[in-house]
Amino acid sequence: MKDWFAGEIAERYDESTAGMPVEPVVDFLLPLAAGGALELAIGTGRVAVPLAERGVRLAGIELSPDMAAQLRRKTDSIPVAIGDMTTTRVAGTFSLVYLVFNSINNVTTQDGQVDVFATAAAHLESGGCFVVEVGTPNTQRLEVFDLSNTHVGVDELDFDTQRLVSHHFSLVDGEWRRLSVPFRSVSPAELDLMARLAGMGLRERWADWDRSPFTAESRKHVSVWQKT
Ligand SMILES: C[S@@+](CC[C@H](N)C(=O)[O-])C[C@H]1O[C@@H](n2cnc3c(N)ncnc32)[C@H](O)[C@@H]1O
Repeated sequence: MKDWFAGEIAERYDESTAGMPVEPVVDFLLPLAAGGALELAIGTGRVAVPLAERGVRLAGIELSPDMAAQLRRKTDSIPVAIGDMTTTRVAGTFSLVYLVFNSINNVTTQDGQVDVFATAAAHLESGGCFVVEVGTPNTQRLEVFDLSNTHVGVDELDFDTQRLVSHHFSLVDGEWRRLSVPFRSVSPAELDLMARLAGMGLRERWADWDRSPFTAESRKHVSVWQKT
């Protein structure tokens, strides 16, 4: 599995995500985390560090050593296993496993996404919850998701395979650079089936962290599955 977050991407990650609100995420997750929390694809600890600061026992799994190194600059108190979340296991169980900011889409096969649910289930105590934040599938083959003087972002979706490629065109030092990153688009219904395969059932589905209602128009969802 390729590390798309190495080097400069990891170095600039916190700066580039600084405008994303974290408090509503932490407020949502905190009541579920009394028995500790495991973040899959923990990255630089954008969510995990403030959640740990609210008194939660945190652990993480992360593919990119460079992203984990950024987290390590902030704290020593969150253990991170470097590895693929489809197969990596850590010691202990938790009342909460979570995977935010579309990171399930970084796993580019259906089998791999099914395995992510198995990873979550393997670390959850009975009654524990798996929380996923992810966009709903695009409805057009090509969708512009960003347009500024220095960055143009275009998603390209193959409806047959659910393969999604995010093309980034960035103006750096006077030259346009292109980076095309592969993802796998997945619908809420398919995720529900993956949860069921892993012994979990849907408990809640919202349009956002503020618990706004999920509707046919929602462009993302925050879903909570509970291990039986
Ligand atoms: C968009 S970032 C999200 C990071 C963090 N969760 C956040 O919300 O800021 C996606 C993260 O997923 C990690 N990642 C991608 N594929 C992975 C995999 N198969 N296993 C574990 N981590 C993975 C990347 O290295 C990156 O840190």
